[in-house]
Amino acid sequence: MLSGETAKRFPGDETSRQHFDQSLVQNCGVDFYGAPVGLILAIDRTMERGQWADVGIYLAHLLLLAEERGLATCAQAAWAGMNQTVRAFLDMPEEYILYCGVSMGYADQDAPINRLRIGREPLAVTTEMRGFGAEFAS
Ligand SMILES: Cc1cc2nc3c(=O)[nH]c(=O)nc-3n(C[C@H](O)[C@H](O)[C@H](O)COP(=O)(O)O)c2cc1C
Repeated sequence: MLSGETAKRFPGDETSRQHFDQSLVQNCGVDFYGAPVGLILAIDRTMERGQWADVGIYLAHLLLLAEERGLATCAQAAWAGMNQTVRAFLDMPEEYILYCGVSMGYADQDAPINRLRIGREPLAVTTEMRGFGAEFAS
């Protein structure tokens, strides 16, 4: 079960929360949450910090483009923790560092897990705005 504090941040009915909790705790979502397509993103080891930002931008656009085409996605950093297993399975060269996995497919609207809504922190919590009026702070 999610703790009270976490449950508040995951509005949705109890069943949807339980399904999410089960999938995350039991297997970290490494079944790609049942999606038909699983992507593994990796970055070349020689890349510097700036290029890690580029991979993040790539990921963000990938998710947005999928959404635009009616596909649902779930970025999953948890895959990075399974680096050795994935490397062996995909015969991934040593020069690649596993960044994350992405589940992709058409969302099953009837699946309880898809009723879960993840809240967002208010802008004031995630961003420090300087030189703008107070109206931009929330
Ligand atoms: C870089 C990144 C890594 C993430 N890693 C995981 C993860 O390992 N497992 C997971 O269930 N969700 C992970 N998430 C969260 C989901 O991808 C998704 O954003 C979240 O469930 C919120 O869904 P929503 O955007 O539809 O509200 C990650 C998100 C991002 C951006």
